[in-house]
Amino acid sequence: MLIDSLAILDFGSQYTQLIARRVRECQVYCELFPWDTPAERVLAQKPRGFILSGGPASVYETGAPTMPGYVLESGLPVLGICYGMQLLTQALGGKVGASAEREYGPSDLNTETDNPLIPPGIQRVWMSHGDRIELPPPGFSVLGQSPNSPIAFMGDLSRRYFGLQFHPEVHHTPGGKEILRRFAIEICQASPGWTPESIITQSVQRVQQQVGKATVISAVSGGVDSSVATAMVQRAVGDQLICVFVDTGLLRQGEAAQVKATLQERLGIELISVDAAEQFMRALNGVTAPEQKRQIIGELFIRIFEQQARQLGLPRYLVQGTIYPDVVESSAPDRTQAQRIKTHHNVGGLPEDMQFELVEPLRYLFKDEVRAVGENLGLPAAMVWRQPFPGPGLAVRCLGEITPDRIQRLRHADAIFTSELAEAGLLRMALGEDQTQGTAQAFAVLLPVYSVGVMGDQRTYQETIALRAVTTQDFMTADWARLPYDLLAKVASRIVNEVQGVNRVVYDLTSKPPATIEWE
Ligand code: XMP
Repeated sequence: MLIDSLAILDFGSQYTQLIARRVRECQVYCELFPWDTPAERVLAQKPRGFILSGGPASVYETGAPTMPGYVLESGLPVLGICYGMQLLTQALGGKVGASAEREYGPSDLNTETDNPLIPPGIQRVWMSHGDRIELPPPGFSVLGQSPNSPIAFMGDLSRRYFGLQFHPEVHHTPGGKEILRRFAIEICQASPGWTPESIITQSVQRVQQQVGKATVISAVSGGVDSSVATAMVQRAVGDQLICVFVDTGLLRQGEAAQVKATLQERLGIELISVDAAEQFMRALNGVTAPEQKRQIIGELFIRIFEQQARQLGLPRYLVQGTIYPDVVESSAPDRTQAQRIKTHHNVGGLPEDMQFELVEPLRYLFKDEVRAVGENLGLPAAMVWRQPFPGPGLAVRCLGEITPDRIQRLRHADAIFTSELAEAGLLRMALGEDQTQGTAQAFAVLLPVYSVGVMGDQRTYQETIALRAVTTQDFMTADWARLPYDLLAKVASRIVNEVQGVNRVVYDLTSKPPATIEWE
């Protein structure tokens, strides 16, 4: 089944993934390709049009990315954004030059001419460019200006070529999604068939073709991606799927039971559940260095999984919850090393001697799509939309030594904090458009810091809980959440009263950077 799609050529802009997300929000499938991808690969997708992304280079620099020949030869509609617009201009005989000043930030686009992409009037747009169009190519009309860009929007209506100097994909361009929708649906005539149902149908077919009648194994740890991937494979191959759940004893309150109940009872997945809490505690005994904790947990997880897989006769296929940003970030041009590393700090890899073939049913999905698909497959909303949680679990947030008592202390405090937030409607579990109301991630941290307190007539000498709550779009930068004082007071009071061994609660006021979201 091939559904209508668009191809986005990536010239290295930090916003390229957002273009794809916005187009897919309009239910049109699109794929990202590094700009120098071989033509056959891009055209195999049978795109209905092209979007050329922004990028950090200048079109007139030597060695700058160039316009692939097949784009204009195809006769399909093209939308060039920022660098993409400049490239289109250069390729079609217009002129690009340096702006007198680099333009970065909000600006007003004034559209005067009737056109199928942007209604006439003034709208707020987001600019980020150093070059600009000095002369549009023959056949193009200037369709809109901004105070600093006399040619902020141009088009050749007969050839269906358009150029935008601003970024329609970012939230700071409020009308941007509508521009992309019009381009995809009205100009390219792509039908909006990218829905959770069609995603599932496609993915199920792909998995069935890949594995045939073979047995497939999946390791679930409670994370959203691995749970949705597992549910998808089960939909595809039914009881050919065997699922191993390793309970590390480091999950949040009620989480292990929820994962088991959901997979087993709700989805009818055959589940081998390994209660390994004691093993993990033993392995972590006396360890305080965060990296060492991560390493121990990753290795033990694999060892336990490996043991189970061998007992099951080592199936040939292994389910993995790789998602689209992981795939894109490891192949995109001009990304910094730091950006590339970001998504790969999960529980470690599998040993070399286990030659599994990977089944990756979420390989083309963004996180929000994974969640929508998860719900559609029957996973509870509370599980699918919950906030991110590190692979090594509560161990990351239990600073100092890990003992059953300390983990329980942390788990209890965390449950109080998150339940109060949920009740106040502030535990926003998804990446939303507006992060000012609520938290993208909120949790408790146990500090090995003892201080003196007084309870009743008793002097106490106990540990400290730090509360961490942040707002963020992408988890790469974050701000501390401005939670109401009354809520913080209630949470603090409940924690010192209800959690054994804690006599002090503090709230973390640092942003990322310079701090990180997690404490370790
Ligand atoms: P930091 O603390 O680096 O975290 O600001 C950024 C985001 O990554 C999450 N995180 C992890 N996720 N495995 C994961 O799957 C991990 O080991 C891990 N460590 C941090 C963190 O919760 C935050 O959302």
